Amino acid sequence: MSGLPEYDDQLSTFHEAFERELRGIIDALPLKPDMRVLDVACGDGFYAKHLSERAQVTGVDVSPAYLAKARPQAPGVEFVLAPLEDLPFAEASFDFVWCAQSLYSLPDPLIALGHMKRVLRPGGVLAVLENDTAHQVLLPWPASLELQLREAELRALQQERGLTSRYYVGRRLPQVFAEAGLTPTRFATFPFDRLAPLGEAERRLLALYLEELDARVAPHLDPGALEALRALKAQLPTAPHLSLTWLNMLTLGTR
Ligand SMILES: C[S@@+](CC[C@H](N)C(=O)[O-])C[C@H]1O[C@@H](n2cnc3c(N)ncnc32)[C@H](O)[C@@H]1O
Repeated sequence: MSGLPEYDDQLSTFHEAFERELRGIIDALPLKPDMRVLDVACGDGFYAKHLSERAQVTGVDVSPAYLAKARPQAPGVEFVLAPLEDLPFAEASFDFVWCAQSLYSLPDPLIALGHMKRVLRPGGVLAVLENDTAHQVLLPWPASLELQLREAELRALQQERGLTSRYYVGRRLPQVFAEAGLTPTRFATFPFDRLAPLGEAERRLLALYLEELDARVAPHLDPGALEALRALKAQLPTAPHLSLTWLNMLTLGTR
């Protein structure tokens, strides 16, 4: 679909590969049917759809293309086109605010949480699900290569994007909650484990991940390490006995 961001393919493949686990995370949230829930930066509506089975959900996003993709997926959800920085909702309008995998896309996590807090009622809950770039994927690759890749990735992000701390926000979500004036009440890391042979979506997700990593780190890596990465890129997705772990961090906090 035109107008969708470059990362859409990887994000929707991630939803497909780990739907069972992601659904389990939503099912365990402290929701009730009469609660008003806001899904901030709802994207293609994947979470809004699952949330709407448990509460009354509004999804908000700045992308018309994403909202066009979301609407048919989640008919029970009200979708609103607006930027987080100018949410068209009164203060304290929601009992629960959900935000998944979006702090990377927003300029500053602390400011973003401030906008979410404004629309949350006192005593209401904010839940953020995020990755951490350095710890997103565990693979059985050589540790020395992994360290070189992570360092090259950090250098690339510094050069491409300037401020990099938001790409590593997963590890410090409770701290950012506290700085935003929210009381962190729960922090959990969810490992999504897979053993070869990978399913189609899992294999495709790993291939897309390694492709993106290659494109990002190539200018910052020595030729030997780049060659090793490219060999793994060809082998890993179909390697026998491959173990793959995708990590997601969830933080809940109250206003
Ligand atoms: C990585 S996607 C995550 C989407 C969804 N939460 C998910 O996990 O599938 C980031 C989302 O943030 C949205 N976004 C980026 N900047 C935004 C802003 N200033 N206000 C609202 N949404 C924004 C994008 O359009 C996109 O849908």
